[in-house]
Amino acid sequence: MRTIILCLASLMLAVFGAGAVLAEEAPVSAAPQAQTVCQQCHAGLPGHLGAPVKDWGGSVHSENGISCHDCHGGDPTDFAMAMSPERGFIGAPEPNAIPDFCGRCHIGVRQDYGDSKHGKALGKGGPQCVTCHGNHAVKRASLALINDKDCTRCHSYERAARIRDALETTDGIIAELEKELDGLHRVGIAVKAMRGKVFSARNSFHRLFHSVDVDKVHEGTAAVQADLEKVEVQVAGIKSELGQRKIWGGIAVVLLVVAGILALLLRRTYEEQEKAD
Ligand code: HEC
Ligand code: HEC
Ligand code: HEC
Ligand code: HEC
Ligand code: HEC
Repeated sequence: MRTIILCLASLMLAVFGAGAVLAEEAPVSAAPQAQTVCQQCHAGLPGHLGAPVKDWGGSVHSENGISCHDCHGGDPTDFAMAMSPERGFIGAPEPNAIPDFCGRCHIGVRQDYGDSKHGKALGKGGPQCVTCHGNHAVKRASLALINDKDCTRCHSYERAARIRDALETTDGIIAELEKELDGLHRVGIAVKAMRGKVFSARNSFHRLFHSVDVDKVHEGTAAVQADLEKVEVQVAGIKSELGQRKIWGGIAVVLLVVAGILALLLRRTYEEQEKAD
């Protein structure tokens, strides 16, 4: 069956020419990439065989150049041999194999997930990567993924809500600090070192979720917040110094204006005296 469909598809492409398919499906995305044979053939297939092309189209993976063959293996340049195991094709994973499938690239997340109650419940009612992120339409991750609707499919929301609250507070501090640093950068202050600290705090902060361990998340966010507080103190110091500079600058301007007026008055008196003489 598979061979027949493949032969038919190959024949169709041979008749109409790959060029026609390319022209019709020419990508208009920001980063134009040549279409692989995987996309070209699957785009024309019905139902669940064609849907991945569209779903993947707007994904964070597509944006970052991760294509069908990067996940599924195979040869993206050869129509006939594209899905042959000799060319590394591994097909679609079973649900229980998905953490390893995604974890080839997301090594840290794979580890945190594996150590968690979720990872330990894999195959026994626990969620895996695709349960929360989807398979092809994967978007940039955010705390919006933690919500009443998605997290209560298997248990109550209470622990999830506590995790979300802790993460949200830190998220807010990071966003505020990034805005402050942008502001300082605009008036010519060197912020590279402070940005580095916020960036690394942000990275360790975003690693906390997959443990889904309320205590761990609380300890983790406390440590991250302590690091962020040091940067906040630095920013406050710079801002008060800038404020003082502004006051002294203001006083200097006033003094200059007064001096100017005095000079003018002096000159007038001098000129009037000259006329009187
Ligand atoms: C000439 C057409 C054609 C090309 C080229 C092609 N596919 Fe497929 N693909 C199919 C058809 C038809 C099926 C369904 C029948 C089957 O499973 O073989 C399929 C099935 C699949 C499946 C599901 C397999 C499963 O285990 O359920 C995946 C994943 C897949 N293709 C990925 C790819 C990737 C990745 C490439 C490129 C390296 C590719 N395909 C190239 C036609 C094609
Ligand atoms: C980020 C990795 C990733 C990328 C990129 C990706 N896939 Fe998949 N794909 C998966 C996973 C995981 C599954 C299994 C999904 C599941 O069980 O929910 C899957 C399943 C499939 C299936 C079987 C669908 C079904 O319902 O039986 C096909 C066909 C497929 N992918 C084709 C493609 C094509 C074509 C592309 C490129 C346009 C692509 N995939 C890109 C991860 C990926
Ligand atoms: C129970 C739902 C859930 C499961 C299961 C899950 N994730 Fe996540 N994932 C999330 C949430 C929520 C975030 C956002 C956390 C944040 O913003 O701090 C996230 C964030 C991410 C990120 C971004 C991390 C970063 O450093 O910014 C990646 C990558 C990721 N997940 C991949 C995976 C992979 C791979 C798996 C499977 C091994 C997986 N996720 C399993 C919900 C889940
Ligand atoms: C071939 C390597 C590869 C595989 C396999 C892969 N990804 Fe990714 N993924 C990437 C790259 C590269 C990025 C973009 C860079 C980044 O943000 O980490 C990314 C980004 C993400 C993000 C957004 C991260 C963020 O910062 O918000 C999530 C979520 C994600 N992937 C989930 C998954 C899931 C779920 C799977 C399995 C279905 C998967 N990935 C499989 C390479 C991969
Ligand atoms: C597919 C089912 C499923 C989904 C969906 C799911 N969980 Fe879970 N979750 C489990 C199972 C199974 C356990 C382990 C048994 C238990 O503690 O209830 C668990 C445990 C937990 C725990 C307790 C961990 C511990 O160390 O005590 C937290 C917190 C949690 N989940 C948060 C979430 C969040 C947040 C979401 C949504 C992003 C979510 N879960 C979605 C199945 C699920």
